[in-house]
Amino acid sequence: MMETVASWMKESTSTVVLTGAGMSTESGIPDFRSKSGWWKSIDPRTVASVESLTDDYALFREFYQLRIEALHDIEPHVGHRILARWEQKGYVQLIATQNVDQLHQLAGSKNVAELHGNIVTIRCTSCNKPHSKEHFLNNAVCTYCTNHLRPNVVLFGETLPQDAWNRALNAIQHADVVLVIGTSLEVYPVNQLPMMARGKLVYINLELETHATGFDAVLQGSAGEILTQLDAYL
Ligand code: APR
Repeated sequence: MMETVASWMKESTSTVVLTGAGMSTESGIPDFRSKSGWWKSIDPRTVASVESLTDDYALFREFYQLRIEALHDIEPHVGHRILARWEQKGYVQLIATQNVDQLHQLAGSKNVAELHGNIVTIRCTSCNKPHSKEHFLNNAVCTYCTNHLRPNVVLFGETLPQDAWNRALNAIQHADVVLVIGTSLEVYPVNQLPMMARGKLVYINLELETHATGFDAVLQGSAGEILTQLDAYL
């Protein structure tokens, strides 16, 4: 099957990659729903929802401080680097990611649509003015209007950034090949995107998730390993 997927990619004029938290676990960042995932020990509604931002800012800020500090010294892994190299070689046209760690960009990928925003950049919750990460980590308030600061992450209950969504949807609808890597496909609306694909649909994941149906090929394993094996055929 590996060789077949590689041949699809070689013939493809447009390949799009959709990634999730499983793409970053080999870099040392936990995913959300696996045995060691964030949501196994924390209720996402209490720390990653609009309500948590308004009703319990201290807990909200503590959670994102933890996640931002967990990114320190984190490097992209071989899988991120292969995807960046494929972009340079013209094998990949867009990476649409649910991840908020910017590891694709750190690995050199230029064309990345951040469907759930990121936790690397910060803004004021009221006037939306940008602030530094240090401001947020030091529990500072907005220097313009003294309101709370927050990461530019999409919280549960918020809509996705329109530009990133449109880029991802348009690219996936017109792609010859769509690689879906490291996601349980449990979260709406991103879990609808694979169904919009008209081309070949490939699932690369450690676990065979219940939501992952309708794929033309399933390559079970870690993102780093599978992408390394695929790269050998390209
Ligand atoms: N290689 C491949 N797959 C992996 C790896 C790996 N190294 N490690 C974990 N996985 C798989 C897991 O088996 C699981 O199916 O990645 C998937 C991760 O699923 P989730 O934890 O549900 O993460 P994701 O699908 O990205 O979650 C979507 O939910 O909590 C929100 O906003 C958050 O963007 C996130 C969204």
